[in-house]
Amino acid sequence: MTADELRAATEGITWYHQIDLGQGVVTPGSDNTRARIAMIGLPDDLSGKSVLDIGAWDGAFSFEAERRGAARVVAVDSFCWSGEGWGTKAGFERARQLLSSKVEDREVEVLDLSPDTVGVFDLVLFLGVLYHMQHPLLALERVASVCREQLILWTQIDMAHVERPAAAFYPGTELNNDPTNWWGPNPAAVVGMLQVVGFRRVDAVYTWLAEPSTPGAPRAQGNAIFHAWR
Ligand SMILES: C[S@@+](CC[C@H](N)C(=O)[O-])C[C@H]1O[C@@H](n2cnc3c(N)ncnc32)[C@H](O)[C@@H]1O
Repeated sequence: MTADELRAATEGITWYHQIDLGQGVVTPGSDNTRARIAMIGLPDDLSGKSVLDIGAWDGAFSFEAERRGAARVVAVDSFCWSGEGWGTKAGFERARQLLSSKVEDREVEVLDLSPDTVGVFDLVLFLGVLYHMQHPLLALERVASVCREQLILWTQIDMAHVERPAAAFYPGTELNNDPTNWWGPNPAAVVGMLQVVGFRRVDAVYTWLAEPSTPGAPRAQGNAIFHAWR
């Protein structure tokens, strides 16, 4: 395909991810995906590894894992792919076709993840999903059950000014005017939950806190990345 043909093939889809399709063509997503890929600490060489990308949406992180040599990559989603969510599966399917990718897809709810439903993977990506979970500890139990070695988790955080494990609860649209956001745990709560569900070692590798909207208020909200090992 020429660059113009590639670009034309991205049209008619509302993209979330910016996926590098080669020849200078990037899908016109609203997310700053390439910067996020650089930030999450994805191993450069995934040769021989199996990777599960939970909440994959357009699949940018799945395709990146494949590009880095993963032997098998499975992308899982439900909310967006099933049509209930903010997006569709069209971007994932189009990108997979344009990249001639072998990434597998499974429509599974986070709470239905288990060794029986999807198998067990060396590396699990759980990016941008935890705060959408009504039952975050239960969700992490399911995530841990399908993780053999390492988890990379990216989440919205809140209550970061509190040292003890704590979380903000959003019963309505308090976070970003989005009713699908339920919990903003603080870093200590994320670390504690990951330990409780069976990760032996947990590192907070990145934390970013926003300026508070009220002058003088503590910096409490932002996002953070964690690496955890079984
Ligand atoms: C904010 S997006 C993050 C997408 C991608 N992981 C990233 O970091 O760019 C949240 C994703 O989680 C998915 N999701 C939300 N709730 C889910 C659930 N209960 N089961 C499976 N996927 C879910 C959504 O469909 C969406 O693709």
